[in-house]
Amino acid sequence: MNTDQAALTCRESSLASDSRKKHFRVSGPTACAAASPGAGVQGGGLCPVEQVSDAQLARYATVIRERTGIHVSHQKKLLLSNRLRRRLSETGIASFDAYYRHLSAIPSHDAEWDKFFQAITTHETYLFRDDNHWKWFSDVFLRDHVAARRASGTTRCLRVWSAACSTGDEAYTIACCVAANHAFPSPRHVDILGTDIAAGEIERAKQGLFGPRAMRLVPKEYLRYFEKDEHTGNWAARPILRRQVRFECHNLMHRLTAMPFDVVFLKNVLIYFDIESKRRALSNIAPLVRPGGFLVAGAAEGVAGATDAFRRVEPWLYQRVVG
Ligand SMILES: C[S@@+](CC[C@H](N)C(=O)[O-])C[C@H]1O[C@@H](n2cnc3c(N)ncnc32)[C@H](O)[C@@H]1O
Repeated sequence: MNTDQAALTCRESSLASDSRKKHFRVSGPTACAAASPGAGVQGGGLCPVEQVSDAQLARYATVIRERTGIHVSHQKKLLLSNRLRRRLSETGIASFDAYYRHLSAIPSHDAEWDKFFQAITTHETYLFRDDNHWKWFSDVFLRDHVAARRASGTTRCLRVWSAACSTGDEAYTIACCVAANHAFPSPRHVDILGTDIAAGEIERAKQGLFGPRAMRLVPKEYLRYFEKDEHTGNWAARPILRRQVRFECHNLMHRLTAMPFDVVFLKNVLIYFDIESKRRALSNIAPLVRPGGFLVAGAAEGVAGATDAFRRVEPWLYQRVVG
């Protein structure tokens, strides 16, 4: 289990214990015992500790894997149950089975699928996550890219993709590094795309607002690119960052229609996929990294075993093979 998963599991189990306390205070444990496992309670209210049965887990795991690539193991039963219960309470649907039937009956473009993806995915992120990645991006990649542009006399647009960007923290971090470089005087020279399967996260990314936790690792010299609201303690990205970034919904199980990128950041997402889904995501992404361009992925994401389109430069850095 990596730190993200551990943090999430920890956060989720504390949520579960909170809701348990609430339930016991209000109704007493016997109300739970009365609800047969997996049956649900009428009126859109499952017992607050009710979990999916093994059969329900298997059905949901299949649809989640097919649609998102995410592998839901038996160990994630509590996590999945907690996340589904929230969706049930928001829709007023009474049971795990009824919600599954609802998903099976609606078309792929129905907004409920977005909300389902939003609910079942893990969105942990913050700016300047993994210091060494940003040192490489600023001090090596941007330096070389700018030198190559000057040598060739071109003003080719720098294109960077933050795939699975959650609330956009990674994309704004890229924008900070580019802004600090001063070699990209106009927004025409930079295109930073952030994408995620979760529509709600993409809407938050477009707002460019960050709380103290998301900002805690931002080096002092980059704070000038944000404006602090002294009342709330939150920070808003300034126009110098906002005009470099754009966001859209995209599922890594499909091929994005776009021109190739110089760098793709694909961090803390393949860890949730099984090997076939990793292969599928990487075969969709590889053609969108220009030959000689880079893929930045977490060291534990298993890129090397899932594609031969890249050569490994560092445990977390891959270069697109030319030809
Ligand atoms: C843990 S966050 C990582 C955010 C950021 N890359 C980082 O490292 O800080 C994982 C993100 O992957 C997204 N995700 C999961 N499956 C996806 C898929 N099939 N396509 C696109 N995004 C996906 C989730 O919605 C979530 O926002």
